Amino acid sequence: MEKPMLMAFLFLSIAIMPSIHGLDLSPKGVEEWFKALPSEKMTKLHFYFHDTVTAKNPSAIQIAQANITFQSPTGFGLLRMMDNPLTVKPEPNSEIIGRAQGIYGSASFEDIGLLMTLNLVFTTGNYNGSTLCILGHNQILHEYREMPIVGGSGIFRLARGIATAKTYQADNITQNAIVEYHVVVLHY
Ligand SMILES: *[C@@H]1O[C@H](CO)[C@@H](O)[C@H](O)[C@H]1NC(C)=O
Ligand SMILES: *[C@@H]1O[C@H](CO)[C@@H](O)[C@H](O)[C@H]1NC(C)=O
Ligand SMILES: *[C@@H]1O[C@H](CO)[C@@H](O)[C@H](O)[C@H]1NC(C)=O
Repeated sequence: MEKPMLMAFLFLSIAIMPSIHGLDLSPKGVEEWFKALPSEKMTKLHFYFHDTVTAKNPSAIQIAQANITFQSPTGFGLLRMMDNPLTVKPEPNSEIIGRAQGIYGSASFEDIGLLMTLNLVFTTGNYNGSTLCILGHNQILHEYREMPIVGGSGIFRLARGIATAKTYQADNITQNAIVEYHVVVLHY
């Protein structure tokens, strides 16, 4: 083939082949790609989250507010940084299995809805040193709040899943709360 023709041929074949980096982009190819992944494990976790705002040693501390926060019925703009213990049972002196470390903030004008950005940092047993990352919307007055697990580390590499929060006990005056968490994650 002459050079221009060869180039035209190459261009044409690249343009019509449904392929990027050797991946077959057809629906069948996508299905095959999924089938070739190693199978995932499912892990279920259950614990209690202790959010202590008012105490001699609080575990969640206000770090910022907006100029309208205290006129806002939803406390819009209030931000707290937490390092909350996670325990096996609801009692505060129950065994600690990890910490919830991160920030939550009031992110809704209309109803009480928190933006939760936190790591579950496990400190015992098989999970010691592994983490799960939550990024979610938390309507704390609802019975069940579902928040996505968007990743993890250690045993939980490439994790994704769902954390379901349910208030176990809350005090409107002190704003201290104990929240039951059920977590289901898929990971390798
Ligand atoms: C809050 O701050 C914004 C931006 O600086 C300002 O425009 C607004 O008037 C302030 N609102 C109040 C209630 O102070
Ligand atoms: C968890 O891992 C840390 C660091 O490796 C270690 O110091 C600690 O003793 C471990 N804790 C438990 C309960 O295994
Ligand atoms: C706490 O506040 C919520 C929302 O304002 C309200 O629905 C609930 O009845 C209050 N609980 C108590 C015990 O006052």
